[in-house]
Amino acid sequence: MTIAERQTGVTAVPDTPSSVAAKQARRPRRLKPILSLDDFEPAARRFLPRSVFGYIAGGVETDWSLRANRSAFARWAFVPHMLVDTSARTTKRELFGHTYDAPFGIAPMGASGLAGFHADIAYARAAAAANIPFLLSGASIVTLERVAAANPATWFQAYLPPDRNEIAALLDRVRAAGYETLVVTADVPIGGNRENNIRNGYSSPLRPTLQLAIDALAHPLWLIETVGRTLMAEGMPYFENGRATRGVPVFSANAERSLTRDSLNWADLEWIRARWKGRLLIKGILAAADARRARELGTDGIFVSNHGGRQLDGAVSPLQVLADVAREARPMTVIYDGGIRRGTDVIKALALGADFVFVGRPFIYAAAIAEQEGIAHAISLLREEISRDLCLMGSTDLSDLATRVVEAKS
Ligand SMILES: Cc1cc2nc3c(=O)[nH]c(=O)nc-3n(C[C@H](O)[C@H](O)[C@H](O)COP(=O)(O)O)c2cc1C
Repeated sequence: MTIAERQTGVTAVPDTPSSVAAKQARRPRRLKPILSLDDFEPAARRFLPRSVFGYIAGGVETDWSLRANRSAFARWAFVPHMLVDTSARTTKRELFGHTYDAPFGIAPMGASGLAGFHADIAYARAAAAANIPFLLSGASIVTLERVAAANPATWFQAYLPPDRNEIAALLDRVRAAGYETLVVTADVPIGGNRENNIRNGYSSPLRPTLQLAIDALAHPLWLIETVGRTLMAEGMPYFENGRATRGVPVFSANAERSLTRDSLNWADLEWIRARWKGRLLIKGILAAADARRARELGTDGIFVSNHGGRQLDGAVSPLQVLADVAREARPMTVIYDGGIRRGTDVIKALALGADFVFVGRPFIYAAAIAEQEGIAHAISLLREEISRDLCLMGSTDLSDLATRVVEAKS
């Protein structure tokens, strides 16, 4: 039974061709042309101001890692098996003792509420309804308590403050709100050099400049549907979850938000492990040696990730190192993120050693253009692709993929 089913008492009925057609007919106009995760990007580009779109879509410096995250998937190809009865195939996947309906979750994305109205609440609700995990960003602009109320199974991602007293206070708050899974992001000791943000007029907090005003006025739907509704509902939004107390406002002429935590190290993680009684994961691991350290200090899992190509430009694509890192990480849980856009990408990452994957940008685009319905649409597109791919590969589930993926030779 899914979390949503438990909460509502309504049991989901599997899709039949006629119910799929009915769903398509009921879909809002904005979602009708969206046939794949990649289709969300151009729609979001039209909806969002250039500054906000650039913040989401961009990588860092020359975008080597951003491009590598996608191109890494082309190195792998399938050897499908024929004449296998796959009529009972399933996309279900177990993670930390819970059986999810799909092997992917929604990655943490800071300031998502700037793209779509109450985006983090929409992610939380869509994830609960689809029975997939959602990891709330520590740079989100709605309180972690409200998100937990929308979906008590939400995980929390922390951008740790540099000071241990502040870390302790944040962890106490996260625990008190009922979160059981804490993910510490390790690959942001300092902000990446995102020149595209400067070029496009994006900053955090957003400065009220003439460039931003012109950009916003050129995107009136965003101004009304995202900004207008947020201001009506909340007044000024704030970065709510970086510390135990509220952070700076999202729009400000002079407030500063520090992204520096360059003294944070393994001793701090050891200290957190002793304090945090729930599940602990580290996000942003690319070196097998770091996976070993994480395992040795009693971490429950790692995210093999280069932050969507947004931190160190030239950082290896996580897919390239996934198999080696996963080998060193066992028996910890290994989660992959970076560049997943297709069901086949999910299958390749699982075949190379991931237990589960998370997806970023397509979900924030979906939240921007159609809120919870958009996110639900993105989830069902990806899940349906995985189910179709399993059938075409001659697999009934996601556990026997390792021998079906080989290195592609050009
Ligand atoms: C707009 C945006 C904001 C992000 N904010 C965070 C964040 O607050 N915390 C974090 O750990 N990762 C953050 N990430 C990285 C994602 O969690 C994830 O690692 C990455 O987006 C995966 O790559 P993909 O977008 O290609 O799926 C962000 C990514 C994007 C695109």
